[in-house]
Amino acid sequence: MKINGKTRVCGLIGKPVEHTMSPVIHNSLSEELGMDLTYVPFLVEEDLKAAVCGAYALNLLGLNITVPYKEEVLNYIGEIDPLAKQIGAVNTLVRKKDGFKGYNTDITGLYRAMQSEGIHLSGESVILLGAGGAARSVACLCSHYHAEKVYLLNRTIEKAEEIAKEINGLTARELVIPMGLTEYEKLPEKKMLCIQASSVGLAPHTEDVIIEDPAFYERIHTGYDLIYRPANTKFMRLVREHGGQAYHGLKMLLYQGIEAYELWNDIQVEDTLCNEIYELMKGEMGIEE
Ligand code: ATR
Repeated sequence: MKINGKTRVCGLIGKPVEHTMSPVIHNSLSEELGMDLTYVPFLVEEDLKAAVCGAYALNLLGLNITVPYKEEVLNYIGEIDPLAKQIGAVNTLVRKKDGFKGYNTDITGLYRAMQSEGIHLSGESVILLGAGGAARSVACLCSHYHAEKVYLLNRTIEKAEEIAKEINGLTARELVIPMGLTEYEKLPEKKMLCIQASSVGLAPHTEDVIIEDPAFYERIHTGYDLIYRPANTKFMRLVREHGGQAYHGLKMLLYQGIEAYELWNDIQVEDTLCNEIYELMKGEMGIEE
């Protein structure tokens, strides 16, 4: 890549940023598309406001925002996309005339990843595992795309109840049903899509799974684990052993990047190129499937 006087810069702000996959995604896209754009990770120790204002002043085209700044950054942007506003967190900033506009492509990326696998939300009953930040975002997505029901199962039921109260208040219907982790026997007797949004099973605890009982997995036709390290979680194995399709979260990571790149450049990236980038990511991570 040749840097010249017209080269645009995008970057990642977070702490830490050393192990990010984003430069692979964005710099490969620029190379393949012949875009004069480079992507650089920036470690921000603490002064997020100065970093965001500085990035705007330096004419950066856009930013990704990662842990721990996805909520705090809302204080320093001019505009916010409605879905990101409902989620209360942004991971992508797009340069506009009077400041950055914030989006949440983590969650629109998950939607696009699911679509690419033929998984739909509209009219679906969904089992959602976990009630942390990730699960809350998925619950917002389910509401946004008109899922029929979301059975939200969490170890700490109060947290599931809190999310249910908030989202049901916004949708004015009983969309989210909060339940304890052991209450799955009360679920309707049908096979459903299950999204695993807890941190259980994340490396190095690869032999952990949020629900052990094999009977639970009889209720799942498709299991989507947001975890991609490892790429074959115990949750996924249990889903498959009971006849379901199972997916890991690496495509979500791919599409959060693709969607950010599309927003920055006002373009659509073709499926074939998305697949090429995905193969590169799998190579970087030593993932075969
Ligand atoms: P994130 O922001 O990535 O979603 P988080 O807010 O820490 O992360 O949420 C982690 C989720 O995993 C929570 O739902 C947590 O359950 P609690 O709300 O009961 O803490 C769930 N989780 C983590 N470890 C767990 C375990 N050993 N068993 C069951 N659930 C667990």
